[in-house]
Amino acid sequence: MRTVAVIGAGQMGSGIAQTVAQHGIKVLLSDVELALAEKAVAGIDKALARLVSRDKITPDEASAALARITPVADYAPMAEADLIIEAATEREEIKRKIFEAAGKVLREDAIMASNTSSIPITRMATSSPDPKRFIGLHFFNPVPVMGLIEVIPGLATAKETTARTRMFAESLGKQVVMAEDEPGFVVNRILLPMINEAVFVLGQGTANIADIDKGCRLGLNHPMGPLELADFVGLDTCLDIVRVLYNTTGDSKYRPAPLLVKYVEAGWLGRKAGRGFYDYSGDAPVPTR
Ligand SMILES: NC(=O)c1ccc[n+]([C@@H]2O[C@H](COP(=O)([O-])OP(=O)(O)OC[C@H]3O[C@@H](n4cnc5c(N)ncnc54)[C@H](O)[C@@H]3O)[C@@H](O)[C@H]2O)c1
Repeated sequence: MRTVAVIGAGQMGSGIAQTVAQHGIKVLLSDVELALAEKAVAGIDKALARLVSRDKITPDEASAALARITPVADYAPMAEADLIIEAATEREEIKRKIFEAAGKVLREDAIMASNTSSIPITRMATSSPDPKRFIGLHFFNPVPVMGLIEVIPGLATAKETTARTRMFAESLGKQVVMAEDEPGFVVNRILLPMINEAVFVLGQGTANIADIDKGCRLGLNHPMGPLELADFVGLDTCLDIVRVLYNTTGDSKYRPAPLLVKYVEAGWLGRKAGRGFYDYSGDAPVPTR
């Protein structure tokens, strides 16, 4: 791959753009407006500077990576891309519109991928120009740090598309897990019910936030508790994924915890909003309940 386009410049899109650029590939980055893509590039600049200050990369490597990323205002320049990765908000209607619009410039030999956490790939492929060249490419947060990518072929995905996508994922220095196109794929199918259950435990007053997280850190040997992790993922994204699991399976075990819905309705979306289960306005996160 020589040029990769990334649509959606939030936490994930920024991380994907940074990682791809650090591996020598040109990146075109877009969001709903150019200013958001430019803001993301400024954030990537800071992230690269932090890597330089920790001696992880050289100043030359940082500036070369940054120079490979171009914020773009529309899809036209993406006609150059070998791969278009959609990393926009976890809403099917938003993603479908992106596949239709970006599909108009997708080259005949290029691949279109979605970074969705949970929405069925086979279903979304019908909005792309060629379902044979449509695939799930699920990165983990924060992308530059996490070593895993799930690759999810849909029913119509061609073997060649899967092979090229897997090769691309491995070229970023990541390990690949192949998953069937089932709701939540592998990791989120296991993780999100745990996060949702932790919010039920909190809502029922069984324990407070700090103790739920401490219990899982020490009792399960997890590096982060489920509520800290939910804040990291984004509570809106967590709720969207739980709703996809619930709606696609119809299984009541996936019903969203009422307190998770309330936090999202309050706009307390986690780290990216400055407040979720923890308040991030001070030097250290403070539990809110
Ligand atoms: N947060 C995680 O831990 C995580 C992990 C893996 C995958 N994902 C998936 O990645 C995707 C993005 O999640 P995120 O955490 O980066 O969310 P985010 O809220 O940080 O970013 C989403 C971005 O999409 C943009 N956007 C919305 N509509 C758009 C459109 N029509 N065109 C272009 N951009 C648009 C928003 O402006 C925003 O910048 C979701 O599908 C999510 O499920 C998230």
